[in-house]
Amino acid sequence: MRARVLVVDDEPSIRTVLKAHLSRDGHEVTTATDGADAVGMLGASPYDLVISDLKMPGLSGLELLAWCIREQPGLPVILITAHGTVDTAVEALKLGAQDFITKPFDLDELKQAVDKALRVERARRRNWLDDSMLGRDIGRFDLIGRTPSMQKVFSLVERVADSPTTVLLVGESGTGKELVARALHEQSSRKNAPFITVNCGAIPEALFESELFGHEKGAFTGAASAKPGKFELADGGTLFLDEIGELGRDLQVKLLRALQERTIDRVGGTRPIKVDVRVVSATNVDLQALVASGAFREDLYYRLAVVPIRLPPLRERRDDIPILVRHFVLRFNERLGKSVSVVDDAMMSRLTEWHWPGNIRELENTVERGVLLADGENMAEDVLPEVEPAPLAGSPALPPFEPGEIGLKDYVRVHTAKLERDLILRSLEQESGNVTRTARRLDISRKALQLKMKEYGLRDEVGE
Ligand SMILES: Nc1ncnc2c1ncn2[C@@H]1O[C@H](COP(=O)(O)OP(=O)(O)OP(=O)(O)O)[C@@H](O)[C@H]1O
Ligand SMILES: [Mg+2]
Repeated sequence: MRARVLVVDDEPSIRTVLKAHLSRDGHEVTTATDGADAVGMLGASPYDLVISDLKMPGLSGLELLAWCIREQPGLPVILITAHGTVDTAVEALKLGAQDFITKPFDLDELKQAVDKALRVERARRRNWLDDSMLGRDIGRFDLIGRTPSMQKVFSLVERVADSPTTVLLVGESGTGKELVARALHEQSSRKNAPFITVNCGAIPEALFESELFGHEKGAFTGAASAKPGKFELADGGTLFLDEIGELGRDLQVKLLRALQERTIDRVGGTRPIKVDVRVVSATNVDLQALVASGAFREDLYYRLAVVPIRLPPLRERRDDIPILVRHFVLRFNERLGKSVSVVDDAMMSRLTEWHWPGNIRELENTVERGVLLADGENMAEDVLPEVEPAPLAGSPALPPFEPGEIGLKDYVRVHTAKLERDLILRSLEQESGNVTRTARRLDISRKALQLKMKEYGLRDEVGE
């Protein structure tokens, strides 16, 4: 098991010894001279294991451990203790250290501790994919979602699937309308008959009638032979009319007739043909607004929307993002022959914070690229959306300046400090207390931020 190990100790000889031994075992070893140094390195690139001395100047081993637990949960930390400090070691284990080893080292003991920590760490990463969060009540009919809004969709799908009523699926692009249409078909007794899709936006108006209802031989120039339309092809099954809002006025009338009479007329045909078709339609525009403006027939709207189902945009159900990511990582691992098993917290928060204008399709494409370009177990990071946090409002209103009460210099000093404290606090809140990200955002160093937090008494507020 080759791993990236960070060794932290203020004593050069210990760093040298540990580096030599761990490198010999095939690990890639980096060293840091104290806790603050280590924090900088951990923030800059990923590690699989930290081995740290307990007593160091500045940030102690325990403080470093606390930092790791908070900022990089799951990263195993092994602490090095001089003999006689077993109490501290026990405290460290309680806090969440993986293990501790005592100085002077027994090299076997060291190797065992390292191997064990790495095994635990690997198992944890695998869990991320394995622990079957994709249980029955989460993913239904290939649809992933466990937020209440999606559970509502599933229950509606289940209840109406086997009835002949029309269903109108309403939702932004990429929210899963087609998937739900297929689920309705698959859950119905029509499932062995055809599922036929017609994209109402993609076919030129002039050809559309024949496309939908078919034509007889010689019905128009070029109609060399008779041809059934999609309605006939879907006989006994389901007809999915996608982008129904694009349907022209003429065809709206004809479609309404087909739905009411359950018969269709081929272009150039002389007798109506009976069809048994369940119609599901979908739209990403506000069909009711089209009705209001007169662009869409109201009677057709009510015919099509006996059961309307609204598919919420992804940004309204962010809790589903992690399980969707997991679902797509597994899918693309398999398709692309990859073995991504790590989506760390920083990545996941970028994925959950993005507003996903292209909804699930956009998320799916992003994960596909991330898996395709992955280096080993880690999903590629440069394909992830750059989340711009909401801008912070500037200064709060200032109280009036009253000369005599307080000099100009003090007035400015006090209020500048208040403004600074306020901006830092709100940035920390937006970054969920993550100091590294907050510092990046404020464009100051981590160290400077930590000093400011101390100065303004903000360490407790975010648990620093
Ligand atoms: N709940 C879901 N669980 C898993 N995958 C989903 C889910 N919803 C959608 N997808 C996937 O997202 C992609 C987009 O879904 P779909 O094509 O059904 O969206 P749509 O609403 O029809 O979009 P458009 O309006 O652009 O046609 C598909 O690859 C689909 O498999
Ligand atoms: Mg679609």
